[in-house]
Amino acid sequence: MHNELETYSTLENTSANNLTDSFNREHTYLRISLIEKCNLRCTYCMPAEGVGLSPPDSIMSANEVLEIAKTFVNSGVTKIRLTGGEPLLRKDFELIYKGLAELPAEIGITTNAVLLDKYLSLFKEKGMKSINISLDTLNKKKFSDVTRRDQFDRVMKNIYASLNAGIQPRINVVLLRDFNENEINDFIELTKDLPLVVRFIEFMPFEGNEWKTEKLVPMASILQNVAEHFEGNKIERIQDKPNDTSKNYRIKGFIGSFSIISTVTNPFCDSCNRIRLTANGTIKNCLFSEDEVNILKVFRKNEPIMPVVKMALGKKHRMRGGMDTLEEFSDPKKNQANRSMILIGG
Ligand code: 5AD
Ligand code: SF4
Repeated sequence: MHNELETYSTLENTSANNLTDSFNREHTYLRISLIEKCNLRCTYCMPAEGVGLSPPDSIMSANEVLEIAKTFVNSGVTKIRLTGGEPLLRKDFELIYKGLAELPAEIGITTNAVLLDKYLSLFKEKGMKSINISLDTLNKKKFSDVTRRDQFDRVMKNIYASLNAGIQPRINVVLLRDFNENEINDFIELTKDLPLVVRFIEFMPFEGNEWKTEKLVPMASILQNVAEHFEGNKIERIQDKPNDTSKNYRIKGFIGSFSIISTVTNPFCDSCNRIRLTANGTIKNCLFSEDEVNILKVFRKNEPIMPVVKMALGKKHRMRGGMDTLEEFSDPKKNQANRSMILIGG
């Protein structure tokens, strides 16, 4: 069996991508979490008491991030996104980013934008086109309620600074019933004159985030809400790109656009091309998988990491870490077995 498989993979290795799972999905998109810490405390991302952090020496160094990323790019990864915690909190962020920018891959980042002003000129210089920014409300008081920190003004200022630098902000809004559902259309109104994308994300369950079906704002009600405000015929569907996790829309005549990321009610697992590397060097083959394998330990022993990565990919489930149905996904016994989002990195 082993030999057969080996022969098979040699024959198949004509394409540049080495990272195919058992459902024939090619993995070209690596998300790297650089840090477990954050300067905000979003309620849906982490418990109020915080999370247990890995010992500092088990976190990837800048050099390890770069070497590991290079191996992935050599195996067919064409896009890397840096996440956290908050990636811009890393003292050596600039070193890491500059190193990655040398690789033949598109480099993106997801940030809460608190520290973004420091890095905008560097991003611009390296050709970054867009930045994913988390912002769940346009109301200062509600911002401090959801993030447990008072940084609204700085984040707004940095969103405008990003627009001024010509880098498109893509605003991630996690929708929570009775919290920010009533701001959906205010966010979309921003896209009238500003060239930004607002991305509404269905609230997902992770350890300690008190997920309940009742807190979810499903894609269907988002669209209904928008249609009531703007009249149905003003909403245009925009063609999705391959492997897009979002359904994309625009209000006729508006400069910007909006999207819906519906992991809960309309999962997009069939076209998944993502693999995740956590700050402490573990591969997660899916946002919702409990299986983790540590490749940093392998790397530190000077052993090849790709066989281990491939093994991890071989175990990838068809959908949401094996929670195929909404019933399974809503079951706390299953969905709470996964680390908090802050330790995964989106
Ligand atoms: N459900 C949905 N989205 C989440 N994010 C963090 N936690 C959750 C959750 N429970 C989002 C953040 C960030 C992105 C990386 O993931 O808003 O923008
Ligand atoms: Fe920090 Fe982002 Fe988590 Fe908020 S969602 S606590 S900004 S990592």
